[in-house]
Amino acid sequence: MPDHVFYTLQKTSSPFLDRRLQDYASEDWYPFHMPGHKRTPLEFPNPYSIDITEIEGFDNLHHARGILKEAQERAAALYGSQKAFFLVNGSTSGILAAISAAIPRRGTLLMSRNSHKAAYHAAYLRELETVYLLPAMTKFGIAGSIQPAHVAQALEDLPQINGIFITSPTYDGVLSDIQKIADLAHAHNAPLIVDEAHGAHLAFSGYFPDCALQCGADLVIQSLHKTLPCLTQTALLHVNSERIDQNALARFLSIYQTSSPSYLLMASIEQCIRYMKQEGKERMQTYTQLLSQFYNKARTLRRLQVFEKSSSSKEACFGHDPSKILISVGSTGLTGKELYDTLLNDCHLQMEMASGHYVTALSSLMDTPEGFQRLILALEEIDKKSYTHTPSQPSNPFDTQRIYQLPKPGMSISQALDRPCETLPLKASIGHISQEYIYLYPPGIPLATPGEILTGNLLNAIAQCQRQGLPIEGPCDIANNRIQVVKG
Ligand SMILES: Cc1ncc(COP(=O)(O)O)c(C=O)c1O
Repeated sequence: MPDHVFYTLQKTSSPFLDRRLQDYASEDWYPFHMPGHKRTPLEFPNPYSIDITEIEGFDNLHHARGILKEAQERAAALYGSQKAFFLVNGSTSGILAAISAAIPRRGTLLMSRNSHKAAYHAAYLRELETVYLLPAMTKFGIAGSIQPAHVAQALEDLPQINGIFITSPTYDGVLSDIQKIADLAHAHNAPLIVDEAHGAHLAFSGYFPDCALQCGADLVIQSLHKTLPCLTQTALLHVNSERIDQNALARFLSIYQTSSPSYLLMASIEQCIRYMKQEGKERMQTYTQLLSQFYNKARTLRRLQVFEKSSSSKEACFGHDPSKILISVGSTGLTGKELYDTLLNDCHLQMEMASGHYVTALSSLMDTPEGFQRLILALEEIDKKSYTHTPSQPSNPFDTQRIYQLPKPGMSISQALDRPCETLPLKASIGHISQEYIYLYPPGIPLATPGEILTGNLLNAIAQCQRQGLPIEGPCDIANNRIQVVKG
């Protein structure tokens, strides 16, 4: 069927494709959000024409021996890893498989508290004991780096730790000292897994901090779709050491990934790898120049403030990925959400997210000079205005800093989740064991996880967030101030 027939049929029958997705694509909204391709197509055929499964002559992702094995080898060669696995279920599936393969069932995982939920889910599925590393807090009011000294202390106190899981860079672009943490892990004979979901682009330019593969991590998970020109859900899992059983890794990947891996997604990975190999360097040069010009101009803003690593101590922020542009409301009088709405409604600039006091613009090598120009002009305009009204939420970045504390463990996540539960008013829950996650989102660092004892301090922190209108998520009946706990 010729392309135009297919699209005409869809036009008459799909309000979702037609009136939402296609209309959105044809308007002038500029994407400072994921995916990293920024809706700019690489050379790619009609998706229907290449949407096949493992038919004769084609390879099976779960037992790759032919074209997919070769394609994965090309990805490994580009990044300089020992082996790369294609992921079609996002970094989520890579994190689940990496933790499952690297840590024995009922083993102990040392993990950064600001980990993606997939790490907590892996701990649940594999019945792991979890020990946490709290990130530092920066003056800007974002979670900072994990301190190697805290890692060293935990390894000394708990020799039973089987492995370490760190997110670097974070959603905000903050990196930890992976080299030092890898050395500590290896001296303890434990593997280091790095969630580099937000850092698949780091390896391609010296403008960015070093990527985890260069720093000695054993397993590294990268979402290609977040920062490179690749379709949503695509990611890579790299193995970079002998400490990992690759057969176990492949086994877990076949459990956590679909049994019908999409050739469309895998072709998109192949195309992205080819593009980065052939054109990545040149494209990165142009992009990093644009970024650098943007930051130069942003330094002249008087009220708004754009985050730079130099504003934090090395301890609070070991490194920052400047592709994640964090724009604080500064002294404008706006809240993060109001800044986000102004950029969206007045300027048609779609940001990635808004927090209490800043917005995040995610950039990539597919961004255009016009896109950067629109962003800086919009910020200059907002910067000139004075917003005299009282913000609907406080924008003080320091308010949330004190609420994160190391938890009081009661039982493991899996023990808590697999037991009967009861629902209590928050006030009556002190001393009980939570069966739910409690997050402040963003930034998504849990205040409590299943298995942790609910304390007076924790409830005060929740009340403080609620008073300030900061979004508490997780408990299914939080609107009525109720929480599920493990039945006594
Ligand atoms: C830090 C981090 N790790 C992992 C993931 C999961 O990535 P994916 O969407 O590719 O499954 C995310 C997603 O937002 C994330 O922010």
